[in-house]
Amino acid sequence: MSKITVPILKGMKGEKKITMLTAYDHPTAKIMDDAGIDTILVGDSVGPVVLGYQNTIPVTIDEMIHHTRAVARGITNALLIIDMPFMSYQESVEQAKRSAGRMFKESGAEAVKLEGGVAMHDTIKAITEIDIPVCAHIGLTPQSIHRMGGYKVQGKGKDVDKLLADARAVEAAGAFMVVLECVPRQLAKEITGMLTIPTIGIGAGPDCDGQVLVIHDVLGLLGDFRPKFVKQYRSLSSDIGNAVKEYINEVTSGTFPDDSQSFH
Ligand code: KIV
Repeated sequence: MSKITVPILKGMKGEKKITMLTAYDHPTAKIMDDAGIDTILVGDSVGPVVLGYQNTIPVTIDEMIHHTRAVARGITNALLIIDMPFMSYQESVEQAKRSAGRMFKESGAEAVKLEGGVAMHDTIKAITEIDIPVCAHIGLTPQSIHRMGGYKVQGKGKDVDKLLADARAVEAAGAFMVVLECVPRQLAKEITGMLTIPTIGIGAGPDCDGQVLVIHDVLGLLGDFRPKFVKQYRSLSSDIGNAVKEYINEVTSGTFPDDSQSFH
């Protein structure tokens, strides 16, 4: 497999589905890269998924850079995208350029992702004009969770026009790809057909140009709660729990370590 680049991803639209997963650490990133994933996102979901925060809002630029550098060291071929955390780009276009520049320079990421449509047009344009590729994110935008009143499907009823306008705005601003989160299947299909850039769905049905999921959801590491759009491919939390119980039993009963784990 060869190195995935922004032009390669753009060229995959309509030709081949794009695969994306989140990663937050070096070994997971290396396993995904070796398995042939197209693109890895260090999402600000690192906050709730890995750092134990309630949501993505407290995540900082330093935390994003710290995790992305670890992921970057595990990747050879996948395109690496870093999420811009809340209030690293909303203040002004100048602030957004400074934050994107620092994150791009210090993390090893090859693109940034930020949330918002029409309202982020000028910001996306300014960041792409300094040659930092931008992946947009519209529909359910978790940094707006309090305004939205929860993790709800977007683009229903009168919000259809707003979502279509957001999609057009991010493409016009120069985004190379757009994540559609929690959008009705039919609307995601319409947006995918309308845009020339790839759409990456999460809870947006099968007609997008690609799909993304949070790796901890895929592996079943987050306990029983599972949003409707998640497919859990493994159930590792019970495997880990059982391994830890075996270890405790063997240490307390004196069966680990035995002679084969000892030096002579
Ligand atoms: O933060 C994240 O992991 C994301 C993806 C779920 C798209 O934004």
